[in-house]
Amino acid sequence: MLDGFRIGLTAFLALFATGAMAADSGAFQWETVGAETYATYCGACHQLNGQGVPDTFPALAGHAPTVLARPGGRDYLVRLVLYGLEGPITAGGKPFNGAMPPWGEVLSDAQLAGALDYVLHSWDNDKALPAGFQPFTPADIAAARSKQMTAAEVYALRGEAARAPPAVASVPLTFTQEQADRGHTLYRRNCQDCHGSNLNDGEFGGAPLNGQYFVRHWGSGTVAALFGYMRAKMPPDRPGRLNPQTYADLTAFLLAQNGYQPGQTELPPDHEAQERMDLKR
Ligand code: HEC
Ligand code: HEC
Repeated sequence: MLDGFRIGLTAFLALFATGAMAADSGAFQWETVGAETYATYCGACHQLNGQGVPDTFPALAGHAPTVLARPGGRDYLVRLVLYGLEGPITAGGKPFNGAMPPWGEVLSDAQLAGALDYVLHSWDNDKALPAGFQPFTPADIAAARSKQMTAAEVYALRGEAARAPPAVASVPLTFTQEQADRGHTLYRRNCQDCHGSNLNDGEFGGAPLNGQYFVRHWGSGTVAALFGYMRAKMPPDRPGRLNPQTYADLTAFLLAQNGYQPGQTELPPDHEAQERMDLKR
């Protein structure tokens, strides 16, 4: 049905360029605005057939309903299109480490809601939607505009949403004392000026990395959220420029400083494993 629909699309667009509300029912008609927005803005990377580009742009066919199904998935999708995404992810079982641009400044609420609805209804994705799925509406997008986020914060949100998805068992948190000690050395060299030798007494305004502040920000997420944040934003003058093992060692150091117990196995830099390691106690 969508394929036939797309053939008539160009003709349709002339009539309904930005029109999105059905005058009679008041319900959001996502079909036209969604197909147009996808074709013009999203398809360049994710491809018109939703298959993406290997190693570069994730496929949305098959993948988008999985994202929706996660805890907080609906809210996450809205923020993803508004504010972008940056950081290593696994999509459809394959790793990606790119950046999705933010669209909030470029596209309207109706265009963004329409694009999400289009993606979720195309390429058989609709067969995987939960019963009673309500299409995204412009009001969903408008509501999320009140809290501006960075692409890195959306990434952290993804980590939270990915926490303990029902199909994936969580694995115990692991790091070693030796790794935490290595992390300490790296911390002194790269982080201490701003975050301080006690992690809460930096001279250049770094946020506290321990105590209640740490618990509030990271304590209910996964290791992947903390690691992903650091890799996306720290150190501020060259974010992501330390190697993954260094970020893993720094993470081990922060965990040790926050009372997590070291064990026999190092914390891996591997994103998928980290997504399954819960920081909740
Ligand atoms: C310039 C290329 C580009 C465009 C245009 C683009 N995306 Fe993306 N998108 C990406 C990349 C790259 C990722 C993976 C980001 C990462 O690795 O962190 C992504 C990821 C996604 C994901 C998966 C998110 C997840 O958590 O698994 C969805 C859904 C998505 N994009 C939807 C859209 C929609 C809808 C549009 C149009 C409004 C769009 N994208 C436009 C590059 C793009
Ligand atoms: C130039 C100063 C500076 C340096 C160097 C620096 N940071 Fe930061 N860091 C900050 C600032 C400022 C924030 C608060 C950012 C914000 O709220 O957007 C922050 C935030 C953080 C946070 C999040 C704290 C929270 O709970 O909100 C973590 C984790 C972090 N830094 C780790 C590191 C690590 C690890 C390094 C070394 C690789 C490092 N930082 C180097 C300034 C710095």
